[in-house]
Amino acid sequence: MDLGLTGKACAVLGGTRGMGRESVRLLAEEGANVAVISRDPGAAQADFERLAAQHGVEILALPADASRSGEIEAAIGSAIRHFGRLHGLAVTNHWMGPSRTFEAVEDAEWHDYFQNSLMGAVRAARAVLPHMEDNRGGSLVLTTAFSSRAPKPYIPAYAAFKAALNNLVKSLMKAYGHSGVRVNAVAPGAIRTGRYDERLAQLRSKRPEITMQEAEAIMLDRLDMKVALERIGDPSEVAELIVFLLSARGGYINGLIANVDGGTDF
Ligand SMILES: NC(=O)c1ccc[n+]([C@@H]2O[C@H](COP(=O)([O-])OP(=O)(O)OC[C@H]3O[C@@H](n4cnc5c(N)ncnc54)[C@H](OP(=O)(O)O)[C@@H]3O)[C@@H](O)[C@H]2O)c1
Repeated sequence: MDLGLTGKACAVLGGTRGMGRESVRLLAEEGANVAVISRDPGAAQADFERLAAQHGVEILALPADASRSGEIEAAIGSAIRHFGRLHGLAVTNHWMGPSRTFEAVEDAEWHDYFQNSLMGAVRAARAVLPHMEDNRGGSLVLTTAFSSRAPKPYIPAYAAFKAALNNLVKSLMKAYGHSGVRVNAVAPGAIRTGRYDERLAQLRSKRPEITMQEAEAIMLDRLDMKVALERIGDPSEVAELIVFLLSARGGYINGLIANVDGGTDF
């Protein structure tokens, strides 16, 4: 299926690792130019250069910290000036403190979640939506989480701010729909990036006799996550949907919070 993204420009906040990076790869494969925003986008520079050359697209790396007021707005402004128009923005930046009980999470940590998770998305939306409105179209995709709807007791602040993002999607959908701008979210379950990847590697180094499938089953059991597909997801399986929602193929999908969790039980 041609997603109609050839020659268009999109941005990915948090595009250097995990689901964001897979989104950048798929966008490039579709022929889109991409602005990659993260604190250290240079870390993925060599890969991006290879990807850009392979698909004849431009990948523009813009450093910015989502947790700081003004930085994301400036980076998105630069992307708009550079490409002339942004058709889509995916917000996939990620911050998570250690697993803790509710009583152990102090104010400073609640503040970190607020700044990284909620305000990172608010700043990105604030920077891009008026531009999309002026252009009578565009697509913003946020990333929330399975835990936004079915929180576990060990990450209360993470889950609370992800739930706030679900709510924000609905406000923004209503505020900008009149101009043809769509706002959606993906809500991943357990996906093999960052911390999950490390934990799986640790588990398999301690117990080299077990297969990856067995390691995933043990980990899901420890996390008390009942996944109907009985496996952890691959970041590309979330990125596929992000890119579809960014494209005009998702043109009548608005206000969706889409579970990408292999059927995880509430
Ligand atoms: N992995 C899962 O199982 C899972 C489950 C549910 C929901 N999610 C959500 O899915 C999204 C993607 O997660 P992921 O696991 O793919 O993430 P990841 O692999 O940890 O990658 C995070 C990305 O965000 C960037 N980033 C982190 N802090 C930033 C900041 N302050 N400002 C700008 N960029 C920042 C990182 O680059 P720099 O270090 O260069 O800044 C990196 O590119 C997140 O919103 C996460 O909460 C993940």
